[in-house]
Amino acid sequence: MLFFVRNCGFFMRELSVKIGGNGKNMRRKKILYGGDYNPEQWLKEPEILEKDIAYMKEARINTVSMGMFSWAMLEPEEGQYRMGWLEERIEQLYRNGIFTILSTPSGARPRWLAQAYPEVLRVREDRVRQIFGERHNHCYTSPMYREKVGRMNRELAKRFGKHPAVVMWHVSNEYGGECHCPLCQEAFREWLERKYGTVEALNDAWCTTFWSRRYSSFAQAESPSSIGEWELHGLTLDWKRFVTAQTADFARHEIAALKEEGITQPTTVNLMYDYQQLNYDELAKCVDVVSWDSYPVWHEGEDIVPALDQAMQHDYMRCLKHKPYLLMESCPSSLNWQRVSKLKRPGLLTASGLQAIAHGSDSVMYFQIRQSRGASEKFHGAVIDHYGGTDTRVFQEVKAIGEVLETLEEIKGAAVKADVAVIYDVENRWAMEDAQGPRNDGLFYHEAAMKSYTAFKRLGLNVDVISQAQEIEGYRMVAAPMLYLFRDGMEEKIRHFVAGGGCFVLTYWSGVVDETDRCFLGKTPHGLTDVFGLRRAEIDGLYDGEVNGLVLAKDAAKILGKDDLAEENGRDDLVREKGKGDLAEEKGTAFADRDFRVKGYECRNLCELLEVEDAQVLFTYASAFYQGSPAVTVKAFGKGKACYVAADAKQRFYDDFYAWLAGQEEVCPILEGEIPAEVEVSSRTAGEWEYVFVQNFSDREVDIRGLNFGDDIEILYGRGDLERLQAYGSVIMKRKMEGEIS
Ligand code: GLA
Ligand code: ZN
Repeated sequence: MLFFVRNCGFFMRELSVKIGGNGKNMRRKKILYGGDYNPEQWLKEPEILEKDIAYMKEARINTVSMGMFSWAMLEPEEGQYRMGWLEERIEQLYRNGIFTILSTPSGARPRWLAQAYPEVLRVREDRVRQIFGERHNHCYTSPMYREKVGRMNRELAKRFGKHPAVVMWHVSNEYGGECHCPLCQEAFREWLERKYGTVEALNDAWCTTFWSRRYSSFAQAESPSSIGEWELHGLTLDWKRFVTAQTADFARHEIAALKEEGITQPTTVNLMYDYQQLNYDELAKCVDVVSWDSYPVWHEGEDIVPALDQAMQHDYMRCLKHKPYLLMESCPSSLNWQRVSKLKRPGLLTASGLQAIAHGSDSVMYFQIRQSRGASEKFHGAVIDHYGGTDTRVFQEVKAIGEVLETLEEIKGAAVKADVAVIYDVENRWAMEDAQGPRNDGLFYHEAAMKSYTAFKRLGLNVDVISQAQEIEGYRMVAAPMLYLFRDGMEEKIRHFVAGGGCFVLTYWSGVVDETDRCFLGKTPHGLTDVFGLRRAEIDGLYDGEVNGLVLAKDAAKILGKDDLAEENGRDDLVREKGKGDLAEEKGTAFADRDFRVKGYECRNLCELLEVEDAQVLFTYASAFYQGSPAVTVKAFGKGKACYVAADAKQRFYDDFYAWLAGQEEVCPILEGEIPAEVEVSSRTAGEWEYVFVQNFSDREVDIRGLNFGDDIEILYGRGDLERLQAYGSVIMKRKMEGEIS
């Protein structure tokens, strides 16, 4: 078997060498373990700071991230820098074997700055300037903000840029939001002029003749606003792109200031879960390492559902650079900003930490080490809570995880190899969700991506989650749910992929508009109707609760290897018992028609009507005036396969359909055998070794006898019963890879 090695852990290995180079050889390969630490809140209580260090050591914490909200303490008055306290902390931690990821403090400006220079404060989309307060309340364009941040960063870099205790720069904190101030408007106009060159080109791209919105100069351009223009889709899309560009430019400005002082450490920005206001592709390009903050909602149903949702985000973050990344924040106990602050069931913290490692993270980090005493996060979970002792349930689990991570050092830097990918693209989402139609009550893009992702995971595969800007060559299967917007050349990329032997699954509402959200004229999905052998004719939006179904088309049973069904079109064999299939379904939907349920797969929300030319029809619609018309097709094109799914089908459909496709494409699971519904299987590889993670995301013991581990395995974690996984239990094993590495 040939393995495709796509991802490499070069960077983190460099980091290891750097740490090793400081004479701390025993720490060379450590997985980073620790979290956000805010000693500035405790400077008047030295005994607490002392305790913190002792506790961290006890919990095997080896890294903290500091400084992200310290501006007021680092520069209490304009130009008066007070960095001694930070240096003292960094060095004391270092003497105790704890490294620092040092943050620049631009995520929250001090009061004096906003007072002296009101231009640094943000202007809302309704053109109201905010007053001082909160975090993320500053303009990324403001020359004054840039100057002050640049100066602060240079001061920090001078002092810590070559400090052996500082292993990385954490640039700002969770960049996000947007500003509509006059400075940003001006920058937007310049950005538009650079992009379009002439006003005529802008008018064409945005279709401004519609409702008389033509521009006669770039000076007339304004950001979208609820009190003005918010329905000119070309504008709203470009504005979001501009916000990303401006944020990335600000990040580059921050990093340039650090580099001017010759920092020797790598940089990162901490990204957020499924964040929709920025295109993270662009932010990732600014830094050396990607990191992110994970805060799932657990215990609100079957935990495998949030577990797979997190898994998809982990994979998305890894794929931003296709190399190991860091889990920068996660909550050691209950959160305080979700609807309900739920305690993590014993074992779940361990499972979710190990899941990060399984997906390519080289760290497990928490927000926060010590719980703050006041203000908005005083009840946010922490390693050390207000009680202040180590004899707490949470501390003990944190400590146990620290001990486990020390035994897994060899996994650090290992790659994740995936033969399949899901395209999940934020620009596409921006355009689609602003589009007005075909379903303003919800298009469910995230859910659609999750269905493909979940189906792949249930087959026991590693999955890459990529934007459409990324390379797809080299994968065996690629799923592109709802790829409404095609960037220039996307259709060629897909055509080439399929012609060369890949299997591509495209769904309803794909290839509809170009890069500036103008509808493609002629047949759609644009540029691909010969590849898929069909064209989209119409799309039907379904009301909430309304259902249609997919039933096996005539002759399709043979193709799908369901010969026994040939006469009986779409019988219950294709529908699994309630249970596995239902775990990842959206909440609150009932089967409208029980009888229908056993005859096919339910679909909802959107049903596209197709005109099929030369594709094989596998499923047809079960009802409505388009009953019997094609809903799922496959066509051999070149050396590959082009599949089209025309409706928003339930998870069960994707599970079965991808199982069939994966069989055809000979995509190999990490482990042979049946994966229980509650279990996730993933792997990382380094050299000739593969590290396989089998994790139970449920509060019940799960029988894993159906999985074939092979004979030649070494158990690294979870020794004991290979037949049953305890509640939230994991097994991590090591085996030699078969086949050759390319
Ligand atoms: C984010 C921030 C942290 C903290 C946590 C709380 O991730 O980066 O500073 O506010 O949320 O969950
Ligand atoms: Zn601004």
